[in-house]
Amino acid sequence: MKEKIEAVLAEIEALQCKTEAEIEEARVRLLGKKGEITALFEEFRSVAPELKREFGQKLNQLKNAAAAKIEAIKETLATTSTASSSFDATMPGDPYLLGSRHPVSIVRKEIVDIFRKFGYDVAEGPEIEDDWHVFEALNFPPEHPAREMQDTFFISAGHPDPILLRTHTSSVQVRAMEKLPLPIRIVCPGRVFRNEAISARAHCIFHQVEGLYIDENVTFADLKQAILLFVREMFGADASIRMRPSYFPFTEPSAEVDVSCNICHGKGCNICKGTGWLEIMGCGMVDPNVLEASGIDSKKYSGFAFGMGVERIAMLKWQVKDLRNYFENDLRFLREFETVI
Ligand code: PHE
Repeated sequence: MKEKIEAVLAEIEALQCKTEAEIEEARVRLLGKKGEITALFEEFRSVAPELKREFGQKLNQLKNAAAAKIEAIKETLATTSTASSSFDATMPGDPYLLGSRHPVSIVRKEIVDIFRKFGYDVAEGPEIEDDWHVFEALNFPPEHPAREMQDTFFISAGHPDPILLRTHTSSVQVRAMEKLPLPIRIVCPGRVFRNEAISARAHCIFHQVEGLYIDENVTFADLKQAILLFVREMFGADASIRMRPSYFPFTEPSAEVDVSCNICHGKGCNICKGTGWLEIMGCGMVDPNVLEASGIDSKKYSGFAFGMGVERIAMLKWQVKDLRNYFENDLRFLREFETVI
């Protein structure tokens, strides 16, 4: 028995394993139910009583030595296998793509920031509105054909007080006139909805920034100056504007504003269709009816309002010809704006 114990001890000392499977195989061979050490314990039963103490100790040492060796091999295998894998801590990291602001957000912020510098506050309001704030208070009489200028999504059509998606953020101006103290100087950025077929030039959802200034003695000259200053901040110091007479139910007189084409600088190109001018917004002097509807004394106060489409300004700024690009979330398009921020 002594020789057998020594032989197994030598085997344990020489033991080498390269894989987990080999370790398990060695464990079973030595310590398993039918293993060599287990067999020696069986044999131990028939050892003469006076030798039991000596062999008992030896066998226990043997068992412990086997278990310790197997543990040690397991540990070295675990560390060497990490070191030999393809992980190299000195390699440069995987680059993370940076996110970016959406082009519409970039331009909306730019527009709002310009007016903030001029002293305008920002006002926001609900996208789901009532007829009063979108139409009635803005001098669109019921059944008036002007309501069809802005094909509306009704949530509850035919209801005595219909609920609808706002077609312009002028509704926020009405809310401001109803509750803010005078004078009022605000811009209203927001999402608006119109029941229009989606094309390169139109979408049923888009963004506006509208503005309102009400005080004593506000004139059309103030309106023109405010818009000229805005346009020069937005499109460059050499930009100029022209105003064409127009019609909105809530302003009188009303105008459409064109900015000199920033591509050809007035010479005429395909962006401005050879005219040298690009249409950017509607504006006008707030109709006295609108002031009165919100409880403002139109004899004492006057004001101007304007409204522009954010996508339209963004299209001009970056010469994007198809409005749908702004809504399709194509990463190839959006990544073009990564460096803008
Ligand atoms: N509310 C108008 C529109 O959505 C824009 C506008 C605002 C025109 C203020 C004049 C004055 O088209």
